[in-house]
Amino acid sequence: MDFLDLPQLVTAGGSVRLPGSKSISNRVLLLAALAEGETEVRQLLHSDDTARMLETLRTLGVRIATVAENTLRVSGVAGVFPVRRADLFLGNAGTALRPLTAVLALAGGDYRLAGVARMHERPIADLVDGLRQLGAEISYLEEQGFPPLAIAPPRAPATPRSLALDQAAAEVVTLRGDVSSQFLSGLLMALPLRAVATTVEVVGELISRPYVDLTLATMARFGVSVRRDGSQRFTVAADSAYHSPGVVEVEGDASSASYFLALGAIGGGPVRVAGVGRDSLQGDVRFADALAAMGATITFGADCIEASAPATGKLRGIELDCNHIPDSAMTLAIVALFAEGPSTLRNIASWRVKETDRIAAMATELRKLGATVDAGDDFIRVWPPLKGQGLRPAVIDTYDDHRMAMCFSLAALATPLRINNPQTVAKTFPDYFACFAKLTQPVPVVAIDGTSASGKGTVAARVAAALGWHYLDSGALYRLTALAARRAGVDWHDEAGVAAIAAALDASFAGGAMTLSGDDVGDAIRSEEISAGASLVAAIPAVRAALLFRQRAFRRHPGLVADGRDMGAVVFPDSLTKVFLTAAVEVRAERRHKQLIEKGIAANIAALLRDLRERDERDSQRSVAPMQQSADAELLDTTNLTIASAVGQVLDWVNKVSEQG
Ligand code: DC
Repeated sequence: MDFLDLPQLVTAGGSVRLPGSKSISNRVLLLAALAEGETEVRQLLHSDDTARMLETLRTLGVRIATVAENTLRVSGVAGVFPVRRADLFLGNAGTALRPLTAVLALAGGDYRLAGVARMHERPIADLVDGLRQLGAEISYLEEQGFPPLAIAPPRAPATPRSLALDQAAAEVVTLRGDVSSQFLSGLLMALPLRAVATTVEVVGELISRPYVDLTLATMARFGVSVRRDGSQRFTVAADSAYHSPGVVEVEGDASSASYFLALGAIGGGPVRVAGVGRDSLQGDVRFADALAAMGATITFGADCIEASAPATGKLRGIELDCNHIPDSAMTLAIVALFAEGPSTLRNIASWRVKETDRIAAMATELRKLGATVDAGDDFIRVWPPLKGQGLRPAVIDTYDDHRMAMCFSLAALATPLRINNPQTVAKTFPDYFACFAKLTQPVPVVAIDGTSASGKGTVAARVAAALGWHYLDSGALYRLTALAARRAGVDWHDEAGVAAIAAALDASFAGGAMTLSGDDVGDAIRSEEISAGASLVAAIPAVRAALLFRQRAFRRHPGLVADGRDMGAVVFPDSLTKVFLTAAVEVRAERRHKQLIEKGIAANIAALLRDLRERDERDSQRSVAPMQQSADAELLDTTNLTIASAVGQVLDWVNKVSEQG
């Protein structure tokens, strides 16, 4: 699937169990592999990143067995991988490539580590520089400072400097801490492979501290305690070694929690996430505090967090140093769209070296929705759209970044949107959109499909007026396309040419008037000639594809009544009420004849009858989205009905559904 169209949502509420944390899953897998003894890992995350780690560990000779769904048994190798020479592919998994680089550099084998193109653009020089101080033999295979890497066994440690002087002192390695905390985490996890004590001295500010805390906590679970002096010096004692704790239960992913908590804060709530809570090891649970600072109502339990909209009804903009919540801060940038006043997220330079340049990506996509954005090297500031303007429908690109797809889904609480390449969520949360759908209620749709001149347009417009909902005359889009093609001199049989016209249609429906490139064309698109052209261009699959999102973008709060041929079957398959409206063809020809005569247009019943039959035939026989009554649609034959009674019948069906709902 290349895209996912999200309807505008009315509310969000409910509860969800989080998938296992990516950061904890990959740390636990690595340490379980390095440990002595067997470890049963429960609630493990299934995702691209963990798959890369598992694959690599197996390639290195680690035995890993599946015990149950989400539970694996890892037979530790006590610090010595059986396979001493291997080519490893880590995809775009920083949580796998970084620590494995450190571990393999000290493990004493010959290895190559590579990833996808984006992984080869993500810096690793600081980690390599640190490891080289310990005798590691690492070379860059392409660009200096970036993967892919070749690793050879480390140089036999010359008598370590410090040991010669004092047995108790540690060797010191300096490491920059301001590009990615994964370098420090990776190095620390690798140090127990050395026989001697080692101190890491962090140079410069240490970013994303909570991830380092998570590393230390995970190491402690495997029996290695790291001595820490302030936040700049970390010492691993001589002869440290990992020992299996037997069973490890992986916490839910706190970054994933951010999307659902935000849903609760924006969409009413309460939304409850289970799997993380008050005592979580993950820094990203502090995202909930940021939401609270924006006015949301947040409650922490031991193993859950709950979020609801502010009691006052309105979220406030926030100004926040996001160093401690780098990943979930992206979610705040979306929440900012729903707040009063601007929001400024600072200290987020690490966004630039993640799955994509996240500062640039966020700025570009937020602007598509109508937000004003200011961005710099290490900050982003977001102003929500002006009062009364709302967000506008947009096609959001996700840059192969799971978090782009997940955080932008929240904008659906304000506008319909299309998310390109949604399967990127598989990196950390394969079921994300299924969970999202369970917690949200879309804006309702009444789909009224049927034959030409059956009166469905009139009925649909009146039903919309009675409900106070929006109205989409989808046939008008095909008529506009036919007219625009004619004006541009593009033949109706030129499929690619007409599809390009449909994709770029400069049409507006503001205030009931229909314009094409500024001209009022309300009457022009109703001529018999354009009707015939519309039926022709509507049979072109590329034209239908080009108009799909445009039609879905009409689904705005509080509801939509849409008429056409495939509203219920294709465009809005989740419509609450589906109606198939028709009338005997002779009656339709008479009605059309009367309409034309009233407008002062000459008309001939026999010709109209022939045209209608031809159009019915073409609309119902075409290969894509043929006109037909779908199994879940109510049939409404208006041959003997007045408009008022047809409208009454549709409203009865709508009310019946909403009573049941
Ligand atoms: O409803 P209408 O007569 O204005 O539609 C004009 C043409 O567009 C008609 O030939 C059928 C086609 N159409 C379609 O294929 N799918 C729709 N959803 C709406 C109209």
